[in-house]
Amino acid sequence: MKIRLENLTKRFPNRGKKARGEMTAVENLTFEIPDGTLVGLLGPSGCGKTTTLNMICGLEKPTSGQIFFGEEDVTALPPELRGVGMVFQNYALYPHLTVLQNILFPLENLKGEARPSREEMRRRALETAALVQIEELLDRRPKELSGGQQQRVAIARALVKMPRVLLLDEPLSNLDARLRLQTREEICKIQKKTGITTLFVTHDQEEAMSISDRIVVMKGGVLMQEGAPQQVYDDPASLFVSKFLGTPPINVFTGEVRQGKLLLDDQPVLDTPGVSDRAVWVGVRPEGFLPQADGPVQCALTRVEVLGRDVSIVCTHPASQNGAVRAIIRSEQEVDASAAQVRFALRPDKVFLFDRDSEVRIPVAGTGREAGQ
Ligand SMILES: Nc1ncnc2c1ncn2[C@@H]1O[C@H](COP(=O)(O)OP(=O)(O)O)[C@@H](O)[C@H]1O
Ligand SMILES: [Mg+2]
Repeated sequence: MKIRLENLTKRFPNRGKKARGEMTAVENLTFEIPDGTLVGLLGPSGCGKTTTLNMICGLEKPTSGQIFFGEEDVTALPPELRGVGMVFQNYALYPHLTVLQNILFPLENLKGEARPSREEMRRRALETAALVQIEELLDRRPKELSGGQQQRVAIARALVKMPRVLLLDEPLSNLDARLRLQTREEICKIQKKTGITTLFVTHDQEEAMSISDRIVVMKGGVLMQEGAPQQVYDDPASLFVSKFLGTPPINVFTGEVRQGKLLLDDQPVLDTPGVSDRAVWVGVRPEGFLPQADGPVQCALTRVEVLGRDVSIVCTHPASQNGAVRAIIRSEQEVDASAAQVRFALRPDKVFLFDRDSEVRIPVAGTGREAGQ
């Protein structure tokens, strides 16, 4: 089922001593979760992700705006009638109940006609346990499970009511790195298998990029950009989005455009047709540097790191806004690790220009790319 948020705003009373009035946690948010897809809601801590989830599931009432499940306006519908399954960061399992009892709990809480028979409850709980592969753990208590297993129980508990929508709020942040990777793949698999419309909240860009059909990037309660992960990465609409996506992060330089050429530290490094003379922020993805003996970008070489498949070149440049410039290249043969200097040409499709004040992307003619929305 398709979910649509329309001009959703949430203000909270400001309880601070100095600032009175209200603070806006979510502002005029409009986006869609297409039926059967997994959308990643991504943004730094405090940008309004949890508030957005809480409005979708009905725990928070929006100040203004509407929420649609399919064609139905659910904005005023109480949470228990929305058919939403929710998974939180801290699992929130009942410690005194077994795994099976935890999964059964939401069904036992159903009232009246919605409440299935005992056998039906058990059948559904076992089916859901099988789906998340915890059949052998049914008699254990939460403290006898690993973090990854606990999170799977939490997912089973959210799915057992066969919700119309699954909401996951930073579900992997309590897991160690390896389990995080494994569990996110499992969530992805479960979502594909059930086809349930899912919103996955995270502040981890890699996590969001790797499992989402689409991502929505937020900052300060406002939607910055949405699209397929690769499209947002390749075509960021703002300096913020370009910096938020990608590991290692994008390299930012101060630059000038003069007569259709981009200058870094007064050296022309790239043609930028159609851009008027102005000061800009320049973002260069790590894979946008091509080692070249007479390349126009001259850097002082700090070190060369061989990372197995790739090679990372760490260097400095006078116009760099980051401490170090980091370039990822394919083979160490391309660079003399003992040299004091390294020179690069830039791949035009990996270089983005942004307005110095608004930090909005500046379109460059003839690159085959317009700036995003
Ligand atoms: N119940 C509340 N009362 C007042 N302020 C709140 C409340 N809930 C969240 N906020 C504020 O709203 C902003 C967004 O919070 P939240 O949605 O939890 O962000 P995120 O989940 O992205 O970290 C934060 O500044 C937070 O302090
Ligand atoms: Mg949160």
